[in-house]
This record gives sequence, structure tokens and C-alpha cells, in this order.
Amino acid sequence: MNPVRWGILGTAEIALTRVIPAMQSCEHSVVTAIASRVLEKAQAAATQHGISHAYGSYAALLDDPDIDVVYNPLPNHLHLEWSARALRAGKHVLCEKPIAMNQAEVHELIRVRDETGLHIEEAVMIRNHPQWSSVLELIAANTIGTPQSVQLAYAYHAKNRNDYRYKPEMGGGAVYDIGSYSIAIARLIFGDEPSGVLATLIRDENTGVDVLASAILDFPTGHATLTVATESTTYQHVHVLGDRGWIRVEFPFAHPQPTRCHLYIGDASSVGNFHCQEIAFDPINQYTLQADRFSLAIQGRSVATWPLENAAANMAVIDALFESARCHQWTPITKTSIKV
Ligand SMILES: NC(=O)c1ccc[n+]([C@@H]2O[C@H](COP(=O)([O-])OP(=O)(O)OC[C@H]3O[C@@H](n4cnc5c(N)ncnc54)[C@H](OP(=O)(O)O)[C@@H]3O)[C@@H](O)[C@H]2O)c1
Repeated sequence: MNPVRWGILGTAEIALTRVIPAMQSCEHSVVTAIASRVLEKAQAAATQHGISHAYGSYAALLDDPDIDVVYNPLPNHLHLEWSARALRAGKHVLCEKPIAMNQAEVHELIRVRDETGLHIEEAVMIRNHPQWSSVLELIAANTIGTPQSVQLAYAYHAKNRNDYRYKPEMGGGAVYDIGSYSIAIARLIFGDEPSGVLATLIRDENTGVDVLASAILDFPTGHATLTVATESTTYQHVHVLGDRGWIRVEFPFAHPQPTRCHLYIGDASSVGNFHCQEIAFDPINQYTLQADRFSLAIQGRSVATWPLENAAANMAVIDALFESARCHQWTPITKTSIKV
């Protein structure tokens, strides 16, 4: 089967530095076009990355009949508009996280998906790393018993105060930027939805975007506690505590470079945080895996996919987290009318 043809909206940093280079080692995907609001930027990116077509507007790329999938890494407030336009132009869509600004916007995308019958996913690239299948297998095998507490931390130091991450109206802030990963992983591990959230935020005093967020999510069988920060040092961890043991995920989230990483597993004989078993993973590019898995999905092959209903459930948690921080109270998570 011919590789699936991808078009890229915008010259986003994530596209130019990670996703397009990763796609160049794909077996089932090829980048055939890139668009920018400024033609010269699209041309420069096309030359740099060996992409055959450059467009001076996003609409022109959507008109190209030789594109099967659109990758949307625009600032967050443009995800709904351009993902919906791409679907209506007959393209499948992989859209960066968070896929929208709130749950209502995800429901709008679900309506467009259902009208068009095309495939659309939120690009939570970490889910493609095999370490998460191993975590789920360990839990299913009762290696750690029932997960009772999941502790997640993800932090970095923002370099650029001029980008959209410092603009509330464009979906700036730590929760939109990296909180969606922690929430997705907590839901994956518990295999369920939280019923409520208690959250607190520290906001940048000039712009109002959240730069430090901490939250407790109340799941039927336990709790997740998460901290995300964008003016901290660089750090990541996920710990899963069960009633028979624990799992420590050494490098759970974004990998700037494919990196060897480990799961450390402890049981009742473990002392402190010292593990008694480890599982190692060779360096792997999560973005390559993501693109090829998506391409195989639209070719009708049997691969994992995450429907928009899953993204709507993640977004429901983000909505409730912001509401909890605003009113300083536990906030229930509204059950979406759409089955997750
Ligand atoms: N999966 C991951 O590892 C990962 C990592 C980082 C970011 N992300 C996600 O990827 C998306 C982009 O992040 P980024 O940091 O790469 O963004 P970025 O470098 O700021 O790029 C965003 C692009 O959007 C286009 N754009 C359209 N309207 C714009 C406007 N009003 N202001 C600014 N840019 C505008 C620009 O392209 P043109 O000027 O060429 O049109 C710009 O290059 C976000 O949704 C983010 O959450 C994902």
C-alpha cells in the first residue's frame, strides 16, 4: 500500500523540530505539503525538510486533493476551527493536544467527525510508547494489586514569554500545555473517569496564565495527584502505588530525543523507593510511532486508536480543574452525554 500523504498546517516549532523529522523515518507516512500564513516561511520549511509542496495559506493546503491527513499543530485556540475545516475538506486529522479549549468544543468536533465520517485524533504522542502497554499489562497481571494512588509531575522552564503559552485567549498556560498528558495517563492507569477534582493554580501576574498547577483527581478506586509547571526546572515522573506493589515510570512524557528508559517495579519486599524488578525500553521515537499508527488506522489496519470521546473526557477534567481552582472547591466532573 502507498504511504499515507500528510499535510502540515503552520510552521510550528513542534512540527519543524520533532514531528516532521520523526515522520521522515516512517514506513507508512510521507509529508507532502506544508502551509504557512506566510508563503516564504512555508517554502523555507519545505526546502529544509525536503517537502514537495509549500502553500501560503492553510486553506490552500486543504484544497490539495493529494493530501490524506492534516496534522494540526496550531496554537490551541485554532485547533477547533482548522481541524473542523480540514475534516470538511475531506482530510483525516491528527490535532495537537489539547484538541480544543473546552469540552463543548470537542463535542463540536465530534459532530463534524460524524458528519464527514473521517478519522480524527488528539496527538497524545506519549500513548504510543510501549512503556504504557507494559504498565497496563503489569496492572492487569495483578503485579502491584489494585492501583490506589497515581502521582504525576511534569515540569519545564518556559523559554519564550512571547509565544502563545503566555496568551490566555490562545490557550496558554501549564494545564493546557502539559496537564493534558498527566490527566490522560491517570485515566489510562485507573481505566476509569474521575468523579471530581480539587485544584489550585499559581498564575503569571502579568498575563494571568497558569504557570504552576496542582490537582487531586478522585477516581472510583483511588486518587491521582498531579503537578504541572512551566516556570520550574525540567522534571518528569509517574509513580503508581498499589496495595501489593508499585511502578515508577522513569521518563513518562515528552522525550526531546529518543531515550532509553525504564519501569522500576517494587513489591512488599522493597525498601523505600528501591525496586526489585526493572523493564528497559530501547530509545524509540514516539512521534514516528504516532504518525505510522495513525496512517495504518486510516488504511483500515488493526491498530490502537483513541476516539474523540476520549479527548472529550480528558477535556471535561481540564474544565473542572479550572473551575475548582476558580472557586476553591471540589468540582464534580460532568459526565459527558457521549459514551466514553
Ligand atoms: N506533542 C508534543 O510534544 C508537543 C510539544 C510542543 C507543542 N505541542 C502542541 O503543538 C501546538 C503548537 O505548539 P508550538 O510550540 O510548536 O507552537 P509555535 O511554535 O508557536 O507555532 C504555532 C504555529 O501556528 C501558526 N499560527 C497561526 N496563527 C497564529 C497566531 N495567531 N499566533 C502564532 N502562531 C500562529 C504559526 O505558523 P505560520 O506562521 O507558519 O502560519 C506558528 O508557527 C500546541 O497545540 C502545543 O500544545 C505539542
